[in-house]
Amino acid sequence: MTGSIFDRAQTSARYIREQIARDIDVAVVLGSGLGAFAETLEDKVIIPYEDIPDFARSTVEGHSGRLVAGKLPSTPINVAVMQGRFHYYEGYSLDEVTLPMRAFGAMGLKKLVLTNAAGGINPNFKQGDFMLIRDHINLMMISPLRGKHDKRLGERFPDMTEVYSKEYRQIAKEAAAEIGLSLHEGVYMALQGPNYETPAEIRMMQILGADAVGMSTVPEAIVARQMGMKTLGVSLITNAAAGIEEGPINHAEVMEMGQRVSKQFCELMTRIVARL
Ligand code: HPA
Repeated sequence: MTGSIFDRAQTSARYIREQIARDIDVAVVLGSGLGAFAETLEDKVIIPYEDIPDFARSTVEGHSGRLVAGKLPSTPINVAVMQGRFHYYEGYSLDEVTLPMRAFGAMGLKKLVLTNAAGGINPNFKQGDFMLIRDHINLMMISPLRGKHDKRLGERFPDMTEVYSKEYRQIAKEAAAEIGLSLHEGVYMALQGPNYETPAEIRMMQILGADAVGMSTVPEAIVARQMGMKTLGVSLITNAAAGIEEGPINHAEVMEMGQRVSKQFCELMTRIVARL
């Protein structure tokens, strides 16, 4: 990538805007196994990431690698959905990982939903449960805001006391109640990955106050916060974290859980996005 982050975001945003030819109200990033929500939209415009200037490519199985813009059924709401995201563990810089958020910001978007697959650390969580992210712990130990400061991107030292909007969490709970679903709320801890954690690491995370663990979302949420976007974070608990239950963890299991709850997840997302 060449040019400043600001310029790259402008270039990506311009291309996306030209292709979709409509104003977008809400952006949604879909985590591993959760891609089906994009298919529920109407009047879809689909843009493969490789066509978008400066966007990286999705290299992870279960991440399609395309931006789907469309209308939420029976509403006038236009949504841009990332079917697949970029991860630090893929070898991308955090500038690359978070460029889509910068592009959404450049498009004037103010509402963001970040979703992910996560391991459950809290012993009350079951496979297939959803957790609203109340807060996060950045154990990736690197900030996407590191580097020369560009005022056009936002503040140098942005406040992080409410990265995940309290109002949006309330909306999500109400939407879930409508379909008889109860949502957990907790702290998401992000690691670089790509290996899963050891049981000893999970015990440490439990002591540090984490309820769920994953390898994404935090860089995107930090950038969104810097740009003043209101963010909702939703984790699907695809498995018990290492050592919480017996047995190994694998990506196939993570993907399968996404598919198992797909219908419920789509219904939940539709209702949430309609209210944001
Ligand atoms: N650990 C880290 N990331 C994950 C997990 C996990 O157990 N499950 C899904 N993503």
